[in-house]
Amino acid sequence: MYFAKLNFRNRFSKGGTLYFAKLNFRNRFSKGRKELLPPWIKWDSKDGQELIETGDQELAYFVTICGLQPNARVLDIGCGIGRIAVALTHYLTSEGGYDGIDIIPGAIKWCTRKITRQYPRFCFHFADIYSKAYNPKGRVKASDYAFPFDKDLFDFVILSSVFTHMLPEDLEHYISEVARMLRPGGTCFATYFLLNPETLEHIETGKSTLGFQFKGDQYRTISHEVPESAVAYNEDYVINLYAQNGLTIATPIRYGTWSLRATDYEYQDFVVAHKV
Ligand SMILES: C[S@@+](CC[C@H](N)C(=O)[O-])C[C@H]1O[C@@H](n2cnc3c(N)ncnc32)[C@H](O)[C@@H]1O
Repeated sequence: MYFAKLNFRNRFSKGGTLYFAKLNFRNRFSKGRKELLPPWIKWDSKDGQELIETGDQELAYFVTICGLQPNARVLDIGCGIGRIAVALTHYLTSEGGYDGIDIIPGAIKWCTRKITRQYPRFCFHFADIYSKAYNPKGRVKASDYAFPFDKDLFDFVILSSVFTHMLPEDLEHYISEVARMLRPGGTCFATYFLLNPETLEHIETGKSTLGFQFKGDQYRTISHEVPESAVAYNEDYVINLYAQNGLTIATPIRYGTWSLRATDYEYQDFVVAHKV
């Protein structure tokens, strides 16, 4: 589930607005980025131009809120069709690096053919992990998957709209893998639907954009048949999970508009954390 429709007026903090203005300016003169995204896909009904714009918005958050540096080594877990990679092609310098990993073979093939060919420092990896929603023929359980990267390797790990499609056992394993792969002091940016008294009230009173009517242990989902369609987690559970894995959450947590709470941020909530 992608971020809500663009609303430039209230989307950014001051620094973010400035940064976005620069990106936007550069966008108009950087031809060819749209061609890096697949024409055959209307990802969550967004076309290529919208994907480029939302990718740039997230990059603005990485830079202004998380302090992402141009020479960073980045891991993008659940990179999909390269929405964030395309934004990063214009930010990371030759000292930086990017690895994207996903469980949809066609998406990885596309990114490798289009993005790696033009930007060799951008590498994409397929993980044959089972997901009822995204890779029903996958052979490995997410909770058993060992990421093919050394420990302490990455400065920055991104999971954008990925934990919102994963169940608790898998989430727990991924958080421990993120903690392993991040260098000390490194940063993780991850989006969620967080359940707390306010969002629960909005769900119960029908104000939330997503119903999350099916309850599991520490989570809720919108679909009994395909639980990974959209998963929300108890906020306290997520906070404890980070703490157990040596990840310190930067406050405040940024809440999104999905539950229709008043916020300046995106559709999903996002959590920024640093490895101790
Ligand atoms: C809504 S898309 C988001 C794609 C990308 N992160 C973005 O923001 O443009 C969710 C992505 O998560 C991937 N995904 C789902 N379960 C995963 C898992 N267990 N490990 C890695 N990726 C996963 C899907 O294949 C899909 O590409």
